[in-house]
Amino acid sequence: MTANEPGSEAARGAYAPMVGMTVTPASGDGVGSQACGAAVRGVRLDQPLAAAQIAAIRAAWLRHQVLAFPDQAMTLDDLELFAQTLGPFGVDPYFRSVPGHPHVAQIRRDAHETSTLFAESWHSDWSFLAEPPACTVLYGNVIPPVGGDTLFANQYAAWDGLSASMQRRLMPLRGVHSARRGYSRQGAYGENDKGRSMAIRYDDSALATELHPIARVHPETGRTALFVSPGYTIGIDGMPDDEATALLAELFRHQAQDAYVYRHRWSEGMLVMWDNRSIVHAATGGYQGYDRLLHRITVGGPARSA
Ligand code: SIN
Repeated sequence: MTANEPGSEAARGAYAPMVGMTVTPASGDGVGSQACGAAVRGVRLDQPLAAAQIAAIRAAWLRHQVLAFPDQAMTLDDLELFAQTLGPFGVDPYFRSVPGHPHVAQIRRDAHETSTLFAESWHSDWSFLAEPPACTVLYGNVIPPVGGDTLFANQYAAWDGLSASMQRRLMPLRGVHSARRGYSRQGAYGENDKGRSMAIRYDDSALATELHPIARVHPETGRTALFVSPGYTIGIDGMPDDEATALLAELFRHQAQDAYVYRHRWSEGMLVMWDNRSIVHAATGGYQGYDRLLHRITVGGPARSA
């Protein structure tokens, strides 16, 4: 481990990347010993950012994988401008966007909604695409007083935590990714999904599959991350289904163990950005009777090593 890696001594305390920002690694309850996450203060995201600030945010994001910026006051226009400093807009194949904001989707659940929780399975956003997005930006507008945390699991640590023989076994393998469990006609958000406040659009295109390396080399850090998830990985290329199901079940258990998990508690006006290439995440419930509303933008960018 180098001095700059999450989990190192240097990474544990707050540090200032020289542009008035402080970056404080997550710690305390709900933060595993090899987790991820940091809070960033001292920067206003509703104002134009200097190149040095953007560079410092990107560096902190690559290092901590999940950044939370509390106490921001952002409109959807601000959110779009900030997202564009990180990379090009990504695509959101199964969300209907907010009118007038074609790249913004609502993550929403109304107080008395009884539909299943959205995004409760561990996943990396849209990993079933040929070019999965690098980053997701999520801004909290209405946050319930209890529940609704988001869990993030560090997949560099998950890869590093596998035995050498398991790493050798996985190295040549490719996962089969698909949106079918969620977004096909028969999927969780398909034609039988009633009473959901979120604007989800199911489609037969969700039956398609894409292959991605299970040992995925991050194109910007060069580190290897475990790249599978119960949300979107439905098989292993060239492997019989029963063998693949057993191996994936083992990886799914491994990747989400407490040591790798950062439980993120939201507050209103908080922006969170995460690196889909090195973490998986999952929504949690526990806020029945309260509204929850966040706005999300998917950001494209380097998905593969050059
Ligand atoms: C998401 O996966 O985009 C939503 C996470 C959450 O609602 O906590």
